[in-house]
Amino acid sequence: MKLNLFYALLTVTLFIACGRKTGEVITSGAKKDPMIEKLISGMTLDEKLGQMTLFTTDWESTGPTIRSGFENDIRSGRCGALFNSHTVDFTTRLQRIAVEESRLKIPLLFGYDVIHGYKTMFPIPLAEACSWDLEAIEKSAYIMSKEAAASGLHWTFAPMVDISREPRWGRVMEGAGEDTYLGSRIAEARVKGIQGKGFENADRLVACVKHFAAYGAPTAGRDYNSVDISERVFRETYLPTYEAAVKAGAKTVMTSFNDYNGVPASGNRYLLTDILRKEFGFNGFVVTDYTSINEMVNHGVVENETDAGILALNAGVDMDMQGGIYQEKIKVGLKDGRIRLEQIDESVRSILKIKKELGLFENPYRFSDKAREASTIMTPEHLMASRDIARKSVVLLKNDGVLPLSPSVKKILVTGPLADDKNNLIGAWSGSGEGRHCISLYEGLRQHVRSANISFEQLKGAEIEGTDMSQFSAVVQKAKECDVIILAIGEHKDMSGEAAARAMIRIPGVQENLLKALKATGKPIITVVMNGRPLVLTEVDNNSSAVLEAWWLGTQAGNALADIIYGDYNPSAKLAMSFPRHEGQIPVYYNYKSTGRPFDPNSKWNTKYIDMPNSPLYPFGYGLSYSTFDCSRPEVSQSVFTENESITISVDVTNSGKYDGEQVVQLYIRDLVASVTRPVKELKAFKKLMIRKGQTKRVEFVLTKKEFSFLNQTLKRTTEPGKFDVFVGFDSDTTNKVAVTLK
Ligand code: BGC
Repeated sequence: MKLNLFYALLTVTLFIACGRKTGEVITSGAKKDPMIEKLISGMTLDEKLGQMTLFTTDWESTGPTIRSGFENDIRSGRCGALFNSHTVDFTTRLQRIAVEESRLKIPLLFGYDVIHGYKTMFPIPLAEACSWDLEAIEKSAYIMSKEAAASGLHWTFAPMVDISREPRWGRVMEGAGEDTYLGSRIAEARVKGIQGKGFENADRLVACVKHFAAYGAPTAGRDYNSVDISERVFRETYLPTYEAAVKAGAKTVMTSFNDYNGVPASGNRYLLTDILRKEFGFNGFVVTDYTSINEMVNHGVVENETDAGILALNAGVDMDMQGGIYQEKIKVGLKDGRIRLEQIDESVRSILKIKKELGLFENPYRFSDKAREASTIMTPEHLMASRDIARKSVVLLKNDGVLPLSPSVKKILVTGPLADDKNNLIGAWSGSGEGRHCISLYEGLRQHVRSANISFEQLKGAEIEGTDMSQFSAVVQKAKECDVIILAIGEHKDMSGEAAARAMIRIPGVQENLLKALKATGKPIITVVMNGRPLVLTEVDNNSSAVLEAWWLGTQAGNALADIIYGDYNPSAKLAMSFPRHEGQIPVYYNYKSTGRPFDPNSKWNTKYIDMPNSPLYPFGYGLSYSTFDCSRPEVSQSVFTENESITISVDVTNSGKYDGEQVVQLYIRDLVASVTRPVKELKAFKKLMIRKGQTKRVEFVLTKKEFSFLNQTLKRTTEPGKFDVFVGFDSDTTNKVAVTLK
């Protein structure tokens, strides 16, 4: 007995010596809810650990089923939350087990990856980010939430707010791109759209910000790889989006698979407690990513799963996704003193609080309403909203004038492996979305053009992957008979998303060969690229008359594209990520730091490649319109200002072209001299506005000390007096600037 006590004390001492504090309970400070306290006081340890346990059903592989083991876990109170369980029928069946057959009758929480649509599919998040339209993004998040909430769900594992400069990483499709400012605003819009003002009408979900933290910076772009970035880069570039989402009210946060500064996120107390709880003031609950507690054994920071669970709890993880570690392995930590019951109680408290906010204790079935499910899903209004944001997400990368397509073009060849494809249009992370509901490009064009004078030919021409070129001669023959070619090429939807890193981010297979064969006909080619990440489009650009970056646009893809091709909608999207000329340039992003030897094409001894320009093919913020716009030189309300003053930067933006259209006016700052190196440009504000042809609109931006601040040598946010350039233009390459001085 004495010996056991000795070993227990030794373990605790060693744990503390390793820098892992044990047993600290971080409470939100909010008043405790008597109902929840009463419940907790009557719970067994197993029931408490059950609330901290999240399991998946087997839905994804075999339809709506759940292993009998899980049913028993629900019955015995050893599992308090499930994911991959949706639809009114299935959730009702499972909830009944919890509230009728378990001792304490605590309702289950149902989670799911509702990422960019539930049944009405919206464009993939990276595409939506290119709309720079926060209202439309919030609306799309609201609609997906509403549909999912009508189908029994309470909780979505979204928004994913991981900033990334890594196009090889497949999960860029799920985020908002490379920029911290744009990403933060989008994170807020998505949280607002998902959660709204609350759950009174059972039409919103609980949001889960993921993946905390820095998951978007995997070394070499390979998913699940370790992250090795400086604290400065972490805090300047990767951290702010999570903070924005938390401050926008997100009630849950998911840990990431990667390590940060040598410690896997699910065991990283610095991330989960010091930053998330103490710095950000987060008071919801933290869930791990899929089995990421268990994976800490593979990371090599713990010897076994028990130690992994204890590390996770001490770091600040409240709920274990799929690992079963909290349920099965951590009790021993209570006996040997490495964890305390108060920590477990606090986690349970934060989980039950959200169940209560959802109204589940009053009515555990309030999200599972058959009539609401039938009347909410895929309504015409939802489909219209999807079409609207799909059009806003398409980036016009090149146009020699062939677009918008004139109605006088009579014979059109629609070709390429994605020309009449539906299944890929929903994109990766489409959950319960179904390709069969999508409008293909070919269908969209035909529905759009009701004139008997215009005829379409449709041939596939090639597969997405593989080497088969046997259809080329037939396609080329048809092309010769047509006036214009619309070629849809790109990636398969599963070539992006999780576990879909690519070393070569080209258009796969022989699709570029098809493009070149068609080019030889001399006919104009409108290339529509469908994909989930920035690709190397150098050859596509060289060989096409016009290029539309169409991403995966969701259910209304074909209609949205037809609207654009025929000019019913004037493209307004701007890239949220730079597109490299070649993989060798990666990472390529606009807000790189000033160096001692800045790029100079005429000097060998400056930072550059000797075989390629430094610049990307298409920069961040870039995207064309059918119209042309001019921006006046920025005017400033006062060019010298103090920290306590705000300044107004104004420009006149004129639509000088032939079409009404929207433009995204972007404001960037460059700090010319600071005590640490600063980026050559940083986005600080933007406005998207409609300007009719011939019209001029004045655009004003108010800048305060916040926009001019940065992290100093001790990583404290500060401002320093000095000179800044303020740029205003239509992409991150703009040179249109005014100088200001902070006194
Ligand atoms: C992903 C998460 C996702 C979870 C549940 C993991 O593999 O990284 O983003 O929410 O699975 O499906």
